[in-house]
Amino acid sequence: MSISNAILRSTVYLKRHGLVATIRRVQLAGNRALFADRMAVLYCDLSERGLPQINVPVVLKVKRLRSLTELSAENLKTMTSFWNPKLANRNIRERFEKGASLWLVECQERLAGYGWTLQGRTMAPYYFPLAQDDVHLFDFHVFPLYRGRGINPYLICRILDGLATNCRGRAFIEVAEWNDPQLSSLRKTPFRCLGSARSFTIMGYTLVSWIKNDIVAQINKGTDPADQIFGTATK
Ligand SMILES: CC(C)(COP(=O)(O)OP(=O)(O)OC[C@H]1O[C@@H](n2cnc3c(N)ncnc32)[C@H](O)[C@@H]1OP(=O)(O)O)[C@@H](O)C(=O)NCCC(=O)NCCS
Repeated sequence: MSISNAILRSTVYLKRHGLVATIRRVQLAGNRALFADRMAVLYCDLSERGLPQINVPVVLKVKRLRSLTELSAENLKTMTSFWNPKLANRNIRERFEKGASLWLVECQERLAGYGWTLQGRTMAPYYFPLAQDDVHLFDFHVFPLYRGRGINPYLICRILDGLATNCRGRAFIEVAEWNDPQLSSLRKTPFRCLGSARSFTIMGYTLVSWIKNDIVAQINKGTDPADQIFGTATK
């Protein structure tokens, strides 16, 4: 995130939540940036994925939007009003301009969550270059009222399904290692962990360091064919 964006976000947060909450939020962001900036990078072969059965207690509808004009004013407001409207609007416009698709998941006609995909490239420098047929999944969000019901893994599986009809490459997604809800959610999808990485972009150059830790085993546990046949040893 650029310094100007960070200042803009902090200013809006200050207006909404007051000084004490803002100081706590800035401390948390600082700690995460300095000590918990590792990302687990996950992949899924679009030609080989086996989609798991996700049980969701409600009927959900998934829609793919390819331009801003397809997004209703009400959904745009829902998507932009919960954090920084100015930055959120700018992000949405830039993403559509670069060819990204926005996937909405609706529960009883109301927006429950969303996620983005971009084929062949990423919005920001990535850990490695993507091939033309690869797709990046990013910025997934389920609104608080709908969390914990399997909506995010359901949306991700529907997206993988939709992408696989035209695309035979790999899908990639990354998640901060501190983000337990998203890690848990991704374990319910066909995504498997490639590794753990840190990246820094300086003057247009992106430096990536891959870190050896147990995140790969933690995420992939139970999805290795050997695990499925022989079971995983647990104590
Ligand atoms: C991460 C996120 C997308 C998961 O969506 P979801 O539809 O709730 O996903 P799931 O139903 O699979 O729940 C995932 C985990 O959330 C946690 N959870 C359960 N109920 C919850 C609730 N009411 N509120 C918050 N988190 C809850 C649980 O740890 C759950 O894991 P479990 O099923 O193994 O217990 C959602 O929490 C979210 O939007 N978070 C904020 C944005 C974010 O972090 N996005 C991902 C990075 S781009």
